[in-house]
Amino acid sequence: MNNQKLTAQDLRNRYINFFAKKHGHREIKGASLIPENDPTVLFTTAGMHPLVPFLMGAPHAEGKRLTDVQKCIRTDDIDEVGDMCHLTFFEMLGNWSLGDYFKEEAIKMSFEFLTKELGLSLKNLAFSCFAGDSDAPKDEESANVWRNLGVSDDRIAFLPKKNNWWGPAGLTGPCGPDTEMFFWTGEGEAPKKFDSDDAKWVEIWNDVFMQYNKTAEGTYEPLKQQNVDTGMGLERVLTVMNGAKSPFETELFDEVIKEIRLLGNYSEANEEIQKSERIISDHLRAGTFILGDRFAVTPSNVDQGYVLRRLIRRAIRHGRKVGIEVDFCRKLAGIFVKNYCDFYTELLENQERIFSEMAMEEERFGKTLNNGIAVLKKEMTKFESQKSEGLNVFAENFFFEMFATYGFPIEMIIEELENSGWIKDAKDKDFVTANFDKFFKEHQDLSRAGADKKFAGGLADHSEEVTKLHTATHLLHKALRTVLGEHVEQRGSNITAERLRFDFCHGEKMTPEQIKKVEDIVNEQIKNALPVSYEEMTVDEAKEKGAMGLFESKYGEKVKVYTMGEDEKRTVFSREICGGPHVNNTSELKSFKILKEESSSGGIRRIKAVVGV
Ligand code: ALA
Repeated sequence: MNNQKLTAQDLRNRYINFFAKKHGHREIKGASLIPENDPTVLFTTAGMHPLVPFLMGAPHAEGKRLTDVQKCIRTDDIDEVGDMCHLTFFEMLGNWSLGDYFKEEAIKMSFEFLTKELGLSLKNLAFSCFAGDSDAPKDEESANVWRNLGVSDDRIAFLPKKNNWWGPAGLTGPCGPDTEMFFWTGEGEAPKKFDSDDAKWVEIWNDVFMQYNKTAEGTYEPLKQQNVDTGMGLERVLTVMNGAKSPFETELFDEVIKEIRLLGNYSEANEEIQKSERIISDHLRAGTFILGDRFAVTPSNVDQGYVLRRLIRRAIRHGRKVGIEVDFCRKLAGIFVKNYCDFYTELLENQERIFSEMAMEEERFGKTLNNGIAVLKKEMTKFESQKSEGLNVFAENFFFEMFATYGFPIEMIIEELENSGWIKDAKDKDFVTANFDKFFKEHQDLSRAGADKKFAGGLADHSEEVTKLHTATHLLHKALRTVLGEHVEQRGSNITAERLRFDFCHGEKMTPEQIKKVEDIVNEQIKNALPVSYEEMTVDEAKEKGAMGLFESKYGEKVKVYTMGEDEKRTVFSREICGGPHVNNTSELKSFKILKEESSSGGIRRIKAVVGV
């Protein structure tokens, strides 16, 4: 095992310095955890994700060689967290060639970093390359580069698409064959022959050769340029470099696990308790980063807010399992903020939000839990005599309602049903999960506000009144940003023939003066009789023109951008990506009045307003 002790910050520095100073890459800032341009995923899942337009061929302001540290969240395996290796949040070290170097240079740099900078011995390394199929040929080219660097054929495996192809990050976009690097973590010498199924070979780095674009039809088209996208897992490298058995044994989690034991008042932990410790620390670390992100996501029942809620609530449940009852999420988040804030300064900037949201969610959960358990138990008692008939004696939407009304996470519903013998096997469990998912999805579809078609879907109809209110929404959005600040962003919208409802992120209640100011601005723009027009353009062009809105469309796809107030005499008042429809001139609205300003959920305010009164 390697004796060299590395800290996380050492590793970040070494990586960035190596690529920036030695190999001419420009260091860029990691992006937000909430993707700005991809509606097909909730979180940034890889370093390449924010770079998609540049992998597709758009010029990047910093050039063709980039490197960074990207915070990522992957929730596909959320139920696996608790073992030695799964994490929901992780850091990815990456370097990119945007149509610059390709396989040979990328692999040589990876090799140099692993063996020279990290000092890993070739004896403990193995590699995999793409085996080839009808979409792309066998990657002998990469294998030859490894061979020329001294890697034996025994340590090179050729694997199919399932293993050695990466991307796209969402449903469509850049992707390609990859070559992966593995480190031997078993006792004693590494076996001569590499077996990728042996879990003691841990994948630590992936060089992806992105030269294809996966289309919505599922075909692979050549990209304009040949790119390299690499991703090294910081937690994994830190673990293996320090001879630890899991990331939970490294400096990243040490202090938090100690604090959990202190709060739970125990010193020895069996496997079950350790599992809970890992879940608590993983989930609250992810929660801290989501809440600390520059995009204000707070716990809710949809989209990213739902994932956040699930993470925090699952941590709380496991907190109870290790004997911690109250107010601990905030404390543990404090440790993560302290230990990560030098590199992730946003955590310090947003620490008030992190702490208050953690505390509020914990309080909310505590309150609703007791009510919920009582309801669930009552329902189970009611049907006790029909138990042998199985789970469909409950109302079809009962499991989802337990969540929607009482905030009961699906895992808890399942656990209670298991404990009382309603769920007997995996089939029963699947029944409940599928049932929950069905209603959850319906609910998500209804709640989610989106641009384009989704937005039009949020309109009750396309009547004249609705169209006017829709135009008023754009004026309101802009006025709110003018009065409250640029942090205001639309979080939802619902329009009926009678009124508009508009949700937006803003931390506090608006004052009567602010409400009046917003009203005045909108009324002024109605009086100014602004022309309303639209143009079709790509999302990139829309962004360039400063359009607001949810950048929910795919690259290349044209979107409608509505502009209010541009003519010979005037500059733009509002410009927003939107599917329409709108009135032709703001004067048609006659007047605008805010009826109500209230809280919608943590960090989100809601305005109800009318026009023409
Ligand atoms: N995007 C590649 C990955 O996530 C590097 O593995």
